[in-house]
Amino acid sequence: MSRQYAKLQNVVDEIRRVTDFVPTVAVVLGSGLGDFAKEIDKVAEVKYTSLSDFPVSTVSGHEGKFIFGKVGKTNVVCMQGRVHFYEGYTTKEVVMPIRIMKMLGAKTLVLTNAAGGLNSSFKVGDFMQITGHISSFVPSPLIGENVDELGERFPDMTEVYDKNLITYINDIASNLDIEIKQGVYLQTTGPNYETPEEIKMFGLLGADAVGMSTAVEAMVACSMGMKVAGISLITNLAAGLGNKLSHEEVKQVASEKTEVFKKLLYNVLENI
Ligand code: HPA
Repeated sequence: MSRQYAKLQNVVDEIRRVTDFVPTVAVVLGSGLGDFAKEIDKVAEVKYTSLSDFPVSTVSGHEGKFIFGKVGKTNVVCMQGRVHFYEGYTTKEVVMPIRIMKMLGAKTLVLTNAAGGLNSSFKVGDFMQITGHISSFVPSPLIGENVDELGERFPDMTEVYDKNLITYINDIASNLDIEIKQGVYLQTTGPNYETPEEIKMFGLLGADAVGMSTAVEAMVACSMGMKVAGISLITNLAAGLGNKLSHEEVKQVASEKTEVFKKLLYNVLENI
């Protein structure tokens, strides 16, 4: 057994002492979107601080716990709060909870985040399905000893975001009369927002939205054979395209869109 796998298994064992619930779908709630957790018919919860060697979120707007329970008939484990590279964790540490959720049984991962919009057709408050990502500005979470038990050394990244899930989420949104756009998400290190010059460059590279999470999580999930979906809420226009940026505004827009977001995510999970 690899050293990393043994460490992960230890955390899984700690969670298994609290609950034997087996999730099929894992969900990560982004900045200001943690309110969705109330919609889950909760069976158990585990605080990150109660687990050994576990990265703990330090950002306001990010709670720190796993919530286990049902959304309709679907068994979910939900991360209320994620950790970020900019908090000083390595990307390998950042993706540890994703590995844990896979080891607990999750086959599908739904990632959500708040992001800045680059695409000129995007408005503040829009939802965007992630169809692809650019993670090249942050170190790969797969660097170092490979966890052979969970995936191969050189994983293919041709289709990180599952095409069937993209169609499925589009159909759900359309039935609910919720507009959802599509685009490429680019992950930066943060914690600073970008300069207008960087945003211009990211636009040239093909990014439609920018944020400080998600791509490394999607990458590791893909390497473990999970089906991945990603939904961004465009909380602001990217630097230089609108007003000056602030975390307060990001949280404010997230809270204004929280009811629509909850409805969308509930329906996606219930019928998945
Ligand atoms: N840039 C980076 N991260 C973000 C942004 C942004 O404009 N908005 C929300 N998260």
